[in-house]
Amino acid sequence: MSNSAEFDKSKAKHFMGKFQQDLASSMAARMCALGDRLGLFQILAKNSPLTSHQLAELAEIDERYSREWLQGMTAAGYLEVDSSSMAYTLPPEHQMPLADENSPLFQGGILELMVHSMTPFEELVSSFKNGGGVAQSSFHPKLYDGMSRSSGVRYRNLLLQQWIPSLPKVQAMLEKGVQVADIGCGNGLALLILAEAFPASNFIGFDAFPPQVAGANERAEKAGVSNNVHFEVADGSEPLPGKYDVIFTFDVIHDMPRPQEAMVNIRTHLNPGGVYVMQEITAEDHLHDNVGPMATLKYGMSLHYCMTTSLAHGGEGLGTCGMPEKVVRKMADEAGFSDVVKADCCNDFISLFEIWP
Ligand SMILES: C[S@@+](CC[C@H](N)C(=O)[O-])C[C@H]1O[C@@H](n2cnc3c(N)ncnc32)[C@H](O)[C@@H]1O
Repeated sequence: MSNSAEFDKSKAKHFMGKFQQDLASSMAARMCALGDRLGLFQILAKNSPLTSHQLAELAEIDERYSREWLQGMTAAGYLEVDSSSMAYTLPPEHQMPLADENSPLFQGGILELMVHSMTPFEELVSSFKNGGGVAQSSFHPKLYDGMSRSSGVRYRNLLLQQWIPSLPKVQAMLEKGVQVADIGCGNGLALLILAEAFPASNFIGFDAFPPQVAGANERAEKAGVSNNVHFEVADGSEPLPGKYDVIFTFDVIHDMPRPQEAMVNIRTHLNPGGVYVMQEITAEDHLHDNVGPMATLKYGMSLHYCMTTSLAHGGEGLGTCGMPEKVVRKMADEAGFSDVVKADCCNDFISLFEIWP
């Protein structure tokens, strides 16, 4: 430890305050995940104000838990309470992120993803010590619900509204009618939205993790759009059935055990005139520029899911911040692509690239 002459007391005090705030925030997020899982925010949004007994009855939960949760969420600043009636309100201004699954601001998916990413804690500790990683199968299936609810907010609100219009050549191809593949399709929502919007094209989704594909097929059946879309288990780094005019990866390459091989594979599976569209998580070219709350979230998700699941397969473990533009361009070049065009809808979370052979 440094000597007292160098010790900045106000810096230490400031840091302790920040630490306690972070600790409290992680508890608030965890209590929010309980509220999301049990439908408490939705009940409050419809019926506020509610006492703990009324919430317990409507949500069919134990009153003691209802009371503690309401008080905890009020302490965290999420709810308001009338101290004479002890009735709690979810203010209208707090409802979109917490209670409205269709809102572009909805956060329930990321909450579900986050809490379930943290459960194989001792396995993760062991990976720190011994190498390797936590396999996808080690996580509770609800993690994958959280993943698709979380990315679903983007697909429902941005895919057709911003992303595809920002790629006019790709849009024209999809409208005309082409063969399309989505590698690492997860629960399939992006492809289902595209299949419905572009009925002249044919869509196939591949994912290496069988439960994701089962979820995607179930979703397709429920949506009744199995006409021009189907899903199969396949590793995107290995030969795939068929060739395609447009290949998408949505939030996938940084998770893959063999990302460079996957990009070579993608180029091999493009028809002449075809294009690869890569959506990735935005990261800064210089690692030390990835700082602050957004970068903390990205590194946290990386350690708890993205990087560790890749390392579990002896993979590269690029991680959530592993695909800054500089790396995308280098990998595309090494995979034999000749042109990378960055779409103008990119922001500090989402990056989108058109990659031409
Ligand atoms: C972060 S998830 C994204 C899923 C989906 N695209 C979405 O946005 O909801 C990454 C997906 O890539 C899949 N994946 C990872 N490595 C893969 C590989 N080598 N081949 C195919 N899919 C892979 C995972 O199983 C997972 O479903």
